[in-house]
Amino acid sequence: MEVIIKTNYDEMSRAAAHVVADILNTKPNAVLGLATGSTPLGIYKELVRLHQEEGLDFSQVTTFNLDEYVGLSVLHSQSYHYFMHENFFKHVNIPKQNVYIPSGTTRNYQAFCQWYEQRIEECGGIDVQILGIGADGHIAFNEPTSSLSSRTRLKTLERQTIDDNARFFEKREDVPSYAITMGVGTILEARQIVLLASGANKAHVVAASVEGPVTSMVTASALQMHPATLFFVDKEASSELKMRDYYDWIQEKKPGAPQI
Ligand code: F6R
Repeated sequence: MEVIIKTNYDEMSRAAAHVVADILNTKPNAVLGLATGSTPLGIYKELVRLHQEEGLDFSQVTTFNLDEYVGLSVLHSQSYHYFMHENFFKHVNIPKQNVYIPSGTTRNYQAFCQWYEQRIEECGGIDVQILGIGADGHIAFNEPTSSLSSRTRLKTLERQTIDDNARFFEKREDVPSYAITMGVGTILEARQIVLLASGANKAHVVAASVEGPVTSMVTASALQMHPATLFFVDKEASSELKMRDYYDWIQEKKPGAPQI
């Protein structure tokens, strides 16, 4: 795991977007794993800018989103379908048929989840997975105590997640209690992972994920087992990291490091 500390949200988002762009430039038909929530807005903004101003091409890209609320139709303003369309898909040239987002309205969740996993595999697996992190340490909607080898499935949201996400809904009671989410095991199979965390309210879980024990109580800690995870954080989110100086030192020494 590599921790990259940036001075602010915009810088962090730009740096993370460039990791994705570099992958697309070497593999134009890459499979992207996408996240929603407030944190990745900056990365989408930069990817859209790279597309519109610098010709970054998405015409051969396939995408798989991490999760979707159960019970919200694709047209609901708080559905992740709607979020992705508004903040990313309508601004870039990803073919519609290459976009996969879990269904929040299927009649057979188990069959749908199996099909979703199968589609990821048939498309060659995820090349780069973008992640945020919840205040309870979740990745996707893998709440505390989720199995670290879990696959795509229906999950009951934790009360804290419902409280945190209530800011997007008119009232707390409108936040769905269930979601379909990729599992921790599904996420760990991505070739490259780019996690972003911003703000002081994430500092505690960032430290627990990077420097704490690997535990299902903080599902992001499972990323310690992943061979290629970049943890992008802004100053506030990095404030509880004990090895902060070392992470900065690694970045400083990078240009001079022997080429592997
Ligand atoms: C969203 C997702 C969640 C969020 C997390 C942080 O697709 O999978 O894990 O990344 O809840 O959300 P924000 O960025 O809104 O703090």
